[in-house]
Amino acid sequence: MKKLIAGNWKMNGSMENARALIANIINQLETDEDVLKKCDILVCPPFLHIPAVRHAIYGFPDLRFGAQDCSAYDNGAHTGDVSASMLRDSSCSYVIVGHSERRQYQQESNEMVAQKAAQVLKNDMTPIICVGETEDEREQGKAQEVVAAQLAGSIPDLESFQEIVVAYEPVWAIGTGKTASVDDVAEMHGFIREQLKELVPDADKVRILYGGSMKPENAGALLSTENVDGGLIGGASLSAEQFLAIARAAV
Ligand code: PGA
Repeated sequence: MKKLIAGNWKMNGSMENARALIANIINQLETDEDVLKKCDILVCPPFLHIPAVRHAIYGFPDLRFGAQDCSAYDNGAHTGDVSASMLRDSSCSYVIVGHSERRQYQQESNEMVAQKAAQVLKNDMTPIICVGETEDEREQGKAQEVVAAQLAGSIPDLESFQEIVVAYEPVWAIGTGKTASVDDVAEMHGFIREQLKELVPDADKVRILYGGSMKPENAGALLSTENVDGGLIGGASLSAEQFLAIARAAV
């Protein structure tokens, strides 16, 4: 399976920064096209920077872009929200849903995440559905139980195969510099694969990303772990050098 290296820019930077970052990524890819052939590369800027990124990567169809969230609804009276059809209209191909920061700060439930993922699929894009336990839950030995419940509740019903991506992001590893050990990642990703077999058709085709302080230094070990089909990268995706060093580690 081709690995997916996805950058989650979160709520960072100005329009000028976004333009500079994507230009830097493109410059580096122009001298190293092999990376783009061997793995899928995706950037998820803030909503307002999507048109600038779209403009910059015109002519680079293999470099994908997407959004960090979308509404659970089609359209209408949802002040401040952005619908999946608007994102499709802006040529997005992936949308992150259920990131732990949204589950935590916007109180997003599994049910809402499943509705958002269904909106993404309905609009011919691929949802990246995030799951992951907190430090307390891991210490109490509940990591698998929590992740199983999030998967069961956040993945919409699929009657036939549709591309979805699952991102396992232990909450305690996000932005903290702490990374889950390769053994823990291998165990959880294997567990997620087994759970997916109960939940979706063709579970073996679902890419399972690891996210949480992935850096060039640990990417090689994490990305060569069984059932790790890519990475969801926050902090390190704000540097073209680091982001592409992670992509190179994937190939
Ligand atoms: P991080 O973020 O790489 O900064 O830990 C990952 C994420 O939240 O997607």
